[in-house]
Amino acid sequence: MGVLTFLARRFVAGETADAAMGVGRRLAAEGIRATFDLLGENTHDERTARRSAEAVAALIRAIPPELERNVSIKLTQMGLDVSRDLCLELTRGLVQTAREVSGFIRIDMEGSPFTQATLDVFRAVRRDYDNVGIVLQASLRRTENDVAECVARGDRVRLCKGAYKEPAAIAWTRMDEIREVYRRLTRRLLEGGAYPAIATHDESLIRHALDTARELGLGPERFELQMLYGLRPRRWRELVRDGFRVRIYVPYGTHWIPYFYRRLRERKENVTFVLRNLLHG
Ligand code: FDA
Repeated sequence: MGVLTFLARRFVAGETADAAMGVGRRLAAEGIRATFDLLGENTHDERTARRSAEAVAALIRAIPPELERNVSIKLTQMGLDVSRDLCLELTRGLVQTAREVSGFIRIDMEGSPFTQATLDVFRAVRRDYDNVGIVLQASLRRTENDVAECVARGDRVRLCKGAYKEPAAIAWTRMDEIREVYRRLTRRLLEGGAYPAIATHDESLIRHALDTARELGLGPERFELQMLYGLRPRRWRELVRDGFRVRIYVPYGTHWIPYFYRRLRERKENVTFVLRNLLHG
């Protein structure tokens, strides 16, 4: 195993579905849920997109019955950049495959060139299926409207800050602004009541979500907290111990480099971890 592969293991469950299921089982033993992500980024031709969709369909079927069949996908992996129709066909196929095994598909949100197209595909599939949800990014200025629309339709939303660097014309760029929007959107989603997922490691935002849920009289079965594999594992356990639902995003596969770099770019502590291991590992 190369040194980078070794370091990426903090954030990536491994290269195979078996490794990911191993992590899923260990989490389940502690009462922690998972969503699995077969890593891969943009596909530029139909054949590759179809192969990606087949691989994800195989993953959905391979998740053992004792684990929830919950999978996160990226639409550029399903050909969004090749053709909208192709992406719609493949995404619909995956949501149908998931429905046959009582599974759930979460559509991750990518950079702003894909926001509208991702929402369009989600909405088209959502018309016929309940077992599909979307991700919205608090850092985008448009997201207040998108949240309002999702709440009106009863869509299941995962709220995150947004992992992609976006221009100030369309995005909030100061962390205090992003946090303020995040808190507002958390409240709207909790009030909306369609089982939102609050996805953040930011303690002030986690606390705000818990306080808001309590104020609204929502039990812990009405929402979930989500975090990324490798980040704040002690906090996952505390939250579960306190009775909350926690789901961990478990990425795996051989195409881990873009995901790994996003995690490094996000937080200087992640870089420090990597450097410390390079020096002393
Ligand atoms: P951020 O990195 O901003 O850190 C803020 C604060 O959190 C810190 O100051 C500290 O207090 C606390 N903190 C963070 N990490 C910590 C640690 N390891 N130990 C202790 N404290 C820590 N993005 C996207 O664009 N599209 C998507 O589809 C998704 N999907 C997704 C799923 C899930 C489950 C999660 C958790 C995240 C995403 N994201 C995402 C990524 C998201 O947009 C965002 O980039 C990261 O979660 C980083 O922002 P945070 O709010 O987590 O904390």
